[in-house]
Amino acid sequence: MPTFSRRNALILGGVGITGTAVGATGFFVNQRLSSRSSQATTSGNSLIEPTELQSVDGALAVSLESSPQQVSIAGRNVQALSYNGGVPGPTLRVRPGDTLSVSLRNGLKDPSNLHVHGLHVSPEGTSDNVFVTVEAGDSFDYQYELPADHPPGVYWYHPHHHGFVADQVFSGLYGAIIVEDPDAIPVERERVLVISDITFDSAGNIPPATPMDTMSGREGELVLVNGQLTPGMDARPGERERWRIVNACVSRYLRLRLDGQQLTLLGIDSGRFESAHEIDEVVLAPGNRADLVVTGSAGNATLSALPYDRGSAGGMMMGSRNSRSADEIVLATFTVAGDTVAPVAAIPMQAVQRDLRSATVTARRELVFAMGMGMGGGMMSPTINGRAFDASRIDTTVQFGSVEEWLLTNTSTLDHPLHLHVWPMQIVEQDGRPVDTMMWQDVVNIPARSTTRVRIAFDDFSGKTVYHCHILDHEDNGMMGIINAN
Ligand code: C2O
Ligand code: CU
Ligand code: CU
Repeated sequence: MPTFSRRNALILGGVGITGTAVGATGFFVNQRLSSRSSQATTSGNSLIEPTELQSVDGALAVSLESSPQQVSIAGRNVQALSYNGGVPGPTLRVRPGDTLSVSLRNGLKDPSNLHVHGLHVSPEGTSDNVFVTVEAGDSFDYQYELPADHPPGVYWYHPHHHGFVADQVFSGLYGAIIVEDPDAIPVERERVLVISDITFDSAGNIPPATPMDTMSGREGELVLVNGQLTPGMDARPGERERWRIVNACVSRYLRLRLDGQQLTLLGIDSGRFESAHEIDEVVLAPGNRADLVVTGSAGNATLSALPYDRGSAGGMMMGSRNSRSADEIVLATFTVAGDTVAPVAAIPMQAVQRDLRSATVTARRELVFAMGMGMGGGMMSPTINGRAFDASRIDTTVQFGSVEEWLLTNTSTLDHPLHLHVWPMQIVEQDGRPVDTMMWQDVVNIPARSTTRVRIAFDDFSGKTVYHCHILDHEDNGMMGIINAN
């Protein structure tokens, strides 16, 4: 196994940070229950997967309708927002080279649109164009052409209409996209785990975010897996499962553990690592995904989210953020019992991706993430290079086909996960230390008061799109810029 820097270890887990032994009680009561949602935790419910829609002969055409919907969450009827009636929406399973067509109908009372997060597709026209507005009651037909060499992995979709993103995602609008491997990995079963958080009152209404919530980034009081509270999964010893995990939380970081089980991380966000990593835990910033292989060992395990310190917004009002992620949360149970299953074939090697560490860099720039003083009420407002988002301004112009190196500087006391559309980023340096393994991600966390260096190849597609903090409250509040590749 390669040696990882400390920052790498934070993402990949397994090195140096496993000493935080939390008194794992393994009971469902670890899931925090608020006074506002006083239902008993449901246990013994099996994990239910979203409906899966799979491409045939190179094409997948789906209809997605967003609408207010009453859904059952943790035994309560919640007034949520949903795609096609469920939370999460259906899983879309495609292959490199496919055409994905989505007919979106906006049944909400607010404007919306659709973004295919992480897909390496055109940002223009009817493709992954976040400048499209689909007004309430209107429809829009998207068409995405995936290149034949599109990286396999876990991606996702969600609305992206500036100003409404956090509210719409928090209320239930998200779903997984899987891009299959060219050579299938032999597993006994595959699971999709879309993790989200939500808050609702005793009447099942989702309360609006407070100014403090939007400054720090709201964290829901319940953390759900596929819309369920602490669902259960079963397997037999020796069985190999592939878990496709999406962090669809608006602001919550997920430091995931599944103690007692063998975890092999195939990749984060975009494609697979050169070789799989054995890990103890994985940290997913909002928007990140993990492509994970779990090999069952007899016993009762819990998929848990451990405390993660993402810093403090340090506003004048209260001086600190809510500290909800200070507790360990049990997300799901994994029960491995029965006769041992014979091992399946080894995980096939993956074609080596391009390594930009040896590329010729044609431009360097710095992006500074800060929390500036806002207009009123003593709240801090998030900025990139001192500016808030302006839909009529192009912040960054890059040359199509070039490789750039970006220094990402976070001067604030809060982590910011930077997300760039269309072109994945290769992390080459974290906090001054070179990264010695190949890490391609489309959401790169920049820890509080630190720097991260990434390289980006602006190839295959030109056009205008965005980069932003994936704490979606920050994005809606202006921590976003427009980039034009031409
Ligand atoms: Cu997942 Cu621009 O967003
Ligand atoms: Cu995105
Ligand atoms: Cu942020």
